[in-house]
Amino acid sequence: MREKVNRIVIIGTGAVGCSYAYACVNQGVAEELVLIDIHEAKAEGEAMDLSHGMPFAPSPTKVWNGTYADCKDADIVVITAGLPQKPGETRLDLVEKNAKLFRGMVSDVMQHHFQGIFLVATNPVDVLTYITWQESGLPKERVIGSGTVLDTARLRYTLGQHFHIDTRNVHALIIGEHGDTELPVWSRATIGVEQIDTYLARNPLIKQEELDHLFMQVRDAAYHIIERKGATYYGVGMALVRITKAILNNENSMLTTSTYIEGEYGHRDIYIGVPTVINRSGVREVVEIDLNETEKSQFDQSVTTLKNVLNKVK
Ligand code: 2OP
Repeated sequence: MREKVNRIVIIGTGAVGCSYAYACVNQGVAEELVLIDIHEAKAEGEAMDLSHGMPFAPSPTKVWNGTYADCKDADIVVITAGLPQKPGETRLDLVEKNAKLFRGMVSDVMQHHFQGIFLVATNPVDVLTYITWQESGLPKERVIGSGTVLDTARLRYTLGQHFHIDTRNVHALIIGEHGDTELPVWSRATIGVEQIDTYLARNPLIKQEELDHLFMQVRDAAYHIIERKGATYYGVGMALVRITKAILNNENSMLTTSTYIEGEYGHRDIYIGVPTVINRSGVREVVEIDLNETEKSQFDQSVTTLKNVLNKVK
C-alpha cells in the first residue's frame, strides 16, 4: 500500500508555478511535488533544478515532472497555467482564452478521479476558480482561488512600512475581486493592537487621504510591477504557500481566498475574495464581517463587475 504522504501537483511551470514550487521546497511544505506543463522538457528541467537543492532544504521533497495521472493521489492541485497579463491589459481581459484552457485542464484532472482540493492562481482568478468548480463537479469547499490573499499581504506590508510597525502586527483586509474593483476594509483594520480610527485620532497628522493613496498603490501594484519586470510571481508564489500550509496543516487560518458565496454579503453563486477559514477540508466557513455603507456598496460593485464577466464564460 502507498504510504500516505502529502502530494501537491502544480499545473503550469511558468514563473508563478516555479516560484510557488521553489517556496514549497524551501519551506518543506509537502513530501511530493509533481510538475506538469505542456512543455514537458521545461517541467523536467525545473524538477531537476529544484531536486538538486534538496541537501539544503529543511525536509526532503520528491520533485518530478508528471502527468495528469499523478493527480489521482494528490492532496492539492494548484493551477498556475494560462496566458499571463501583458502591460496595459487588465486581469479580466484574459478571461475567454483562459476559461477555455481551464475547462480542458480541469477535465483532464478529473478523469483521474482527483479527490483533493483545487487551488487556482491564474487570472482572472475569481472567474477561473468558478470555472474550475463548475467543470470539476467537486463540492465548493474543495475549490479555492488565491483571491485577495496577496492584495491583503501587500496592504499589510505597505501600512507596516508607512507606520514603521512590523507588518505582522498590521491587520487590514482587502476583499472583492482580485483586480481593479477590490476594496480595503478600513472599518476593521488594526495597527498593532489599535483600531486604525483610534490610531489616526492619536496621530492627527495622518489623514484618510493618505490611507486612500496607500490603498491605490496596493490595488495597482501588479501593474507597476508588470511595467517594470513584465510579470509578478514571488508574492503570489508565497501567498499560495500560505494557503497550502493552512490546508495541509489543518490550520483553520483566516485568509481572504476566492471562495464560493451563497447568500453571504447579500450575494450568491459567485467566487470572490472574502475572509474564509481554511483547513484540511478546504473551506471551513465564510466569515461575514460587518461592512460600513461605503464598503458594502464597493463590494456590491465588485460582485457586479465579476458577474458580468462570468456570465460571458460560464
Ligand atoms: C498580481 O496581483 C498579477 O494577479 C497578479 O500580482
